[in-house]
Amino acid sequence: MSFTQVQRKTPPRLYRSKLFVPGARPQLFEKAAAGPADVVCLDLEDAVAPADKDKARDNIVQGLNEVNWGEKLVTVRINGLDTHFCYRDVLALVEKGGERLDAIMIPKVGTAADVYAIDMLITQASAYVGRKKKVGLEVIIETAMGLANIDAIAAASPRLESLHFGSADYAASQGMRTTNIGGGNADYVMLTDAEEGKARARHWNDLWHFPLFRMCQAARANGLVPIDGPFGDYSDADGFRVQASRTAILGCEGKWAIHPNQVALANEIYTPPPKEVARAEAILVAMKEAQEKGLGAVALNGVLVDAASIRQAQVIVEQMAMIREKAG
Ligand code: COA
Ligand code: MG
Repeated sequence: MSFTQVQRKTPPRLYRSKLFVPGARPQLFEKAAAGPADVVCLDLEDAVAPADKDKARDNIVQGLNEVNWGEKLVTVRINGLDTHFCYRDVLALVEKGGERLDAIMIPKVGTAADVYAIDMLITQASAYVGRKKKVGLEVIIETAMGLANIDAIAAASPRLESLHFGSADYAASQGMRTTNIGGGNADYVMLTDAEEGKARARHWNDLWHFPLFRMCQAARANGLVPIDGPFGDYSDADGFRVQASRTAILGCEGKWAIHPNQVALANEIYTPPPKEVARAEAILVAMKEAQEKGLGAVALNGVLVDAASIRQAQVIVEQMAMIREKAG
């Protein structure tokens, strides 16, 4: 390990599914609170029309104070720093949202200074009302500038908890020629070499691999949790499953759900599969026995395991322990 230690900035908790609920539809708040999502995000930004922003803000303040959110992480997505809604969102949430507000999500962050500015507002408003609980920050990386500045953004505030990737806004910002939200694109392919008598195969490539990988890396290097963003076609369970499985393997701890029918899918996919849990547990047992015998590396079912395997296995076992605890 480096002499520089990376500490996780949040206590371990479940982020498998983050259900978005438009602030202009307060009748959905109770449903979201009673459902199985690990995280609920009340939205003031793109799911709310400009004419409804003030009403949505009032609804959310009321919902934060009155709805029983149980054990859920409760966050609110504010409007971007380029709008005049933004500062009013922050002040209303921190001054009137009560102690149940866990975190504020900032969309379209472009520079570390964006995070600094919101941190400053939260800090001032928190002091004014004497808030006891620290309000966390969640950042959406969804612009070319945000991705270019991601390392500085990820280190911009002690309030930061998680980074999220938003594919639709990212694609628009980069001028990508695609209109889907987080899925594949039939024209983003490679052709296999021509071989006599054989048709050339078209292999679909993943448009989102680089930004997602980069986000996972920047998040972990700064002790933050990486979370995959939306998958727009909420009637395509198979498409959601594949996209989510990929990011679960890359290191994301969860994914947004833009409709309740994506929540159970996310909870399932960001739960380590039983086969992996069993293997991780077996690795920890094998390594404990090995260490008792003074050995650093041993074979488990014909495969090398060593100290790095312990760290890999611990990630899975600790995640599973939280999930078992929540399931009772
Ligand atoms: N939270 C809680 N409950 C929700 C919900 C949500 N986001 N979206 C839908 N529901 C409920 C509906 O009220 C309905 O409940 P019922 O069976 O008791 O009547 C049920 O789930 C099925 O809803 P459905 O009719 O399929 O959806 P809809 O047409 O009402 O809404 C969306 C579809 C996509 C507009 C809606 O899910 C939504 O607004 N999602 C969030 C979008 C968002 O915030 N985007 C920003 C982030 S990308
Ligand atoms: Mg967006």
